[in-house]
Amino acid sequence: MKRWTNLALFVLLGLAFVTGWVAFFYATAPSRASLIVHAVSGYAIVALTPWKSVIASHGIRRRRSGWWASVVLTALVLVSVVAGILHSTGLLVSVGVISAMEVHVGAALVAVPFVIWHVVARRLPVRAVDLSRRSLLRAGALLAGAGLVYGAGEGVVRALTLPGWRRRFTGSYEYGSLDAALLPATQWMFDSVPTIDPASWRLVLRAGSSVRQWTYDELLAFDDRVRATLDCTGGFYSTQDWSGVWLSRLLACFQTDGGPLPPPCGEGRGGGPVAVAAAGSVHVRSLTGYDRRFSIESAGRLLIATRLGDQPLDPGHGFPVRLVAPDRRGYWWVKWVTAITIDELPSWWQLPFPMQ
Ligand code: HEM
Ligand code: HEM
Repeated sequence: MKRWTNLALFVLLGLAFVTGWVAFFYATAPSRASLIVHAVSGYAIVALTPWKSVIASHGIRRRRSGWWASVVLTALVLVSVVAGILHSTGLLVSVGVISAMEVHVGAALVAVPFVIWHVVARRLPVRAVDLSRRSLLRAGALLAGAGLVYGAGEGVVRALTLPGWRRRFTGSYEYGSLDAALLPATQWMFDSVPTIDPASWRLVLRAGSSVRQWTYDELLAFDDRVRATLDCTGGFYSTQDWSGVWLSRLLACFQTDGGPLPPPCGEGRGGGPVAVAAAGSVHVRSLTGYDRRFSIESAGRLLIATRLGDQPLDPGHGFPVRLVAPDRRGYWWVKWVTAITIDELPSWWQLPFPMQ
């Protein structure tokens, strides 16, 4: 049972970690599917506490070297699970500017080196017996039990109409929708807000040897509109009205095999997104170096936004222009865009999450 418990914890930690990130990657249905597996693996980890306590107290009594690191690991997993449950039930979604989701993911990230150390230092050899019928039955029972706990938890949240009842399928909570002033300004990890002079700023579009620069005033002349939901991995979402120009319209300048079309290329007003078809992908880069890559087909649904709720953007929200990528998580909505390039690389040629 000891070996099985540790092995189960190992698999479940990996599963919780991967499914958490898969959920963060999507702002569409796969996010929920992944979160169900995520929550069940989280509860299964908790369900193993009675068995793991026996193993742990034995290890602690022996004062094996580095035992304190295992205690830190225990604390981190505990903090992560408690913050996850506080978020999901809505009992405590944030304290000041820190959200329970940030604590949840932060603690899990800090735990990673501790888990690696723990597994390497306390390793037990995996034997064929670990895949025995009995082990598999135990695993099935554990997951079924954890699934029931998850289902019951969701039932309680609903029955008591706890705030968690109102969260979106991604687990995020609504905040300040259709009130531009309330939209929080958050940065991915280490990105910071630059100061940009709109007079000298240019949006540079490149496709092969063709280059077209757009000034802020030129872009302000467009009024393509979209109502889109920004779903932040920090645990909130906000639906807002954005206006600017569909990226496909600007890219239409590069549709000829010769260089850019002469003006008024891309200057049509008020039409829907222009379909753009070509190989490769569109690379959108911020002044800060932050970047994301999209398929060219999606350009008809990407807005180069100059306004939020009919007002120019403020620096925190990406002034002078930012990308609005409906149905994508907030970290795809590149701010302070300066360069958009079409190249031959496929759209999956990037880290799933930016490192900046
Ligand atoms: C939720 C994740 C886990 C937590 C919180 C945790 C916690 C602990 C603690 C507090 C100890 C006692 C202190 C020590 O000996 O360092 C311990 C011991 C141990 N753990 Fe873990 N652990 C976890 C996952 C794992 C995993 C995934 C494995 C193996 C693949 C593992 C294998 C062991 C072993 C072999 C011992 C030594 C027991 C002994 O000396 O008798 N643990 N764990
Ligand atoms: C040690 C690793 C982790 C464990 C044990 C864990 C466990 C949990 C638990 C127990 C919940 C509450 C589920 C519920 O009641 O619905 C939860 C929620 C959540 N976790 Fe994790 N988690 C871990 C890491 C992560 C990571 C790394 C991410 C993202 C990158 C993540 C994203 C989420 C999200 C988005 C929710 C909210 C789900 C919802 O509200 O429906 N988790 N997690």
